[in-house]
Amino acid sequence: MSFGKVIDKKNTDLSKSIDKQKVPEHVAIIMDGNGRWAIKKGFPRSFGHNKGVSVLKEIIKVSKKLGCKVLTVYAFSTENWTRPIKEVDFLLNLFSEVLKNEIEEIHEELIKIKFIGDLTPFPDALKKRIYFSESLTKNNNKFLLNICINYGGRQEIVKVAKELALKSSSGEIKPSEVNEELFNSELLTQGIKDPELLIRTSGEKRISNFLLWQLAYSEIYISEVLWPDFNETEFLKAIIDYQSRDRRFGGIESSPNESFDDSHFSPQ
Ligand code: FPP
Repeated sequence: MSFGKVIDKKNTDLSKSIDKQKVPEHVAIIMDGNGRWAIKKGFPRSFGHNKGVSVLKEIIKVSKKLGCKVLTVYAFSTENWTRPIKEVDFLLNLFSEVLKNEIEEIHEELIKIKFIGDLTPFPDALKKRIYFSESLTKNNNKFLLNICINYGGRQEIVKVAKELALKSSSGEIKPSEVNEELFNSELLTQGIKDPELLIRTSGEKRISNFLLWQLAYSEIYISEVLWPDFNETEFLKAIIDYQSRDRRFGGIESSPNESFDDSHFSPQ
């Protein structure tokens, strides 16, 4: 993985449009469109996944350089098991190979890597690589890369509900003590700030069971570009669009002198 590349000429203008003070700390990405990209080019779907890895490497580098602190990517959903066995095997093997080939450089870049999801069904060899990578990078503090595999947002919420029910039945907590903070503390992303921005590629306008709890107030940016064609320019476009949003979290933006004018309403 090369982190030395500087922003190219085409991106210079875009990068100038970015407000460094308003860079999202946590960006989540649904990397969609690998298969379609490959098929369009007359290649097998695996070709798209391979290209997808190099795009991910570029986006890690760009987001880190920009000042983001956390990147969470959806690499394998709980629903992806329904794909043909050959594609599932290819993806699991790809995760393993990428970890083997890239972990040293990830570590050198002081990136902490964390896998989010139920790892139980994965082959032992992959699990071993995952545990090794997590343990090697656990004290790195420049950037956090969360890779969601065998992850589903609903499954995560059910897991939290079960943990809290167990704690409640054992008397460790009272049902009345269950609140958002306690719920957060049982999530797989426990301790990580919610994403300010979700990017989904390939034009699909769905959350697809990704981070259902954590995305409650995230801004959503849909890119029409298929993931293997996504790049620094497209990422910067997403950040610029995000920075143009007025984030109100359900409130309203008002100046201190402005009062609510209810003169148009005449109660019956
Ligand atoms: C979605 O495209 C992509 C995936 C299900 C796999 C994403 C995985 C990578 C980019 C590799 C990442 C590697 C590591 C180590 C994290 P799709 O297959 O659903 O494409 P389609 O919608 O066109 O069919």
